[in-house]
Amino acid sequence: MTITRDPSKLDSAWAQLRAHHAGLSGTRTSSLFEADQRRFESFSASAGELLLDYSKCKLTVETRRLLATLADVAGVSALREKMFAGNAINLTENRAVLHAAIRAPEGSVFRVDGRDVIPDVLGVREACFAYARAVRAGEARGATGERFTDVVNIGIGGSDLGPVMAVEALRAFHDGPRLHFVSNVDGAHLADVLRGLEPARTLVIVASKTFTTIETMTNARSARFWLAGALGEEAVGDHFVAVSTAREKVETFGIPASRMFGFWDWVGGRYSLWSAIGLPLMLAIGPERFAEFLSGGHAMDRHFRESASERNLPILMGLIGIWHRNLCGYASRAVIPYAQRLARFAAYLQQLDMESNGKQVQRDGSPVTSATGPIVWGEPGTNGQHAFFQLIHQGTDIIPVEFLLGAQGEDDPALAAHQPLLVANCLAQSQALMLGRNLEEANGNPHRVFKGDRPSITLLYPKLTPFVLGQLIALYEHRVFVEAAIWNINAYDQWGVELGKELATRLENPVKTGQGLDALDGSTAGLLRAIRALS
Ligand code: F6P
Repeated sequence: MTITRDPSKLDSAWAQLRAHHAGLSGTRTSSLFEADQRRFESFSASAGELLLDYSKCKLTVETRRLLATLADVAGVSALREKMFAGNAINLTENRAVLHAAIRAPEGSVFRVDGRDVIPDVLGVREACFAYARAVRAGEARGATGERFTDVVNIGIGGSDLGPVMAVEALRAFHDGPRLHFVSNVDGAHLADVLRGLEPARTLVIVASKTFTTIETMTNARSARFWLAGALGEEAVGDHFVAVSTAREKVETFGIPASRMFGFWDWVGGRYSLWSAIGLPLMLAIGPERFAEFLSGGHAMDRHFRESASERNLPILMGLIGIWHRNLCGYASRAVIPYAQRLARFAAYLQQLDMESNGKQVQRDGSPVTSATGPIVWGEPGTNGQHAFFQLIHQGTDIIPVEFLLGAQGEDDPALAAHQPLLVANCLAQSQALMLGRNLEEANGNPHRVFKGDRPSITLLYPKLTPFVLGQLIALYEHRVFVEAAIWNINAYDQWGVELGKELATRLENPVKTGQGLDALDGSTAGLLRAIRALS
């Protein structure tokens, strides 16, 4: 599976971009608005319910053209078609990358090794929907005949961050059981969640693609102990379901295959929210709303495949990302949703983006030739304004900001005063970042000077609905793809998390017994001795 990348064309595309970037150094973004009254129209684009405004980034029509040329010579569209065609573009694991298939509607065709996977996708989706309906209607009950009022999802990484983020994001649509999440192997997490829950009314979902992840397995065993202690071992079957690709391991754990919802190795963990991993969300908002969420993701897939690059949101955001990371040299980007319900969006994106694009070698194993994934971080506005915005405005590093904003506020008329304030604050931040305040405007006080000329994009949507959330997540997934394709890295493996896991396994015995400390490095041995003395 080769994508032709002509090194001389790539070198020339990068060189032209570097020269162009240097040529823009004396230009302020605000002056680009003075020169072009229609800059907002020229540097914004829509897809479905999303509007992307990138006019506050320092780029011109020529920048966009040069970036699009880079994408062309890097083979972005060829790789995109290979992904959708089910080629094994995750070449270190020899796997297809088909998260688009798990949100596709009936009638779609996605092939892996020549076989259409859609019948399996629809089969599992329907099984999940049927189970979610039964729990929500009180037809599927616990061992004592009580309804499930609480659901605990045990998982970590991709088996946690997506469901947690989405369940919180769509809180306005909740009409099912209460959802709780346990991810950390720190026993405090499970203890705090289980405290106050009634075993007879609690359903536990054990979510793990591999069903080997030590944190999840440890939490699942402790949760089973808690449940069996209250209701007896024979009650476990009625209170546990599994979501996994590893049927045998699920059965070995003691959950029958009939209570397992599957997915496939061609779905990456951090791309799996659309699959049975989304069961917590299905339980919270119901299958119909979940189907709207899938439609939002699918609409973005079509947009990504079918729209010209100058109107294509994932391509535009990917190219802006490359501009900021590789030409401007910005090492991080902040994602600031002006939406409290998107409080976990940045945490979710951290795995999506940083586990995908935090890579140091190209697809063929040779060292990368440019910087790759930036640090992604963020918190909701307006809270961030009262915490770290000081550094974003006046610190010595430039941090591009991605603002997310809903046009409509809460329906409750008693809260009518809130939305205009939220909107005004969001727009004020991007305005301040771009315009700044010079010494004269600051009455000669250097402490009050804002250099300005700091880039941001704004993603605007009418209201945070399941459809909009689906669009947003798929947009960010495809942006990761575009950047990875240009950097020529594999966004779909995650070897960088393995070493820590191996060392943790090796350290388990020294931690428990205190033996073998002399064979360890001095710092680790010293810390372990101190821990043993304290515990
Ligand atoms: O941290 C590494 C990782 O493999 C992630 O990629 C994954 O989402 C997470 O662990 C959880 O894995 P699993 O779903 O197999 O338990």
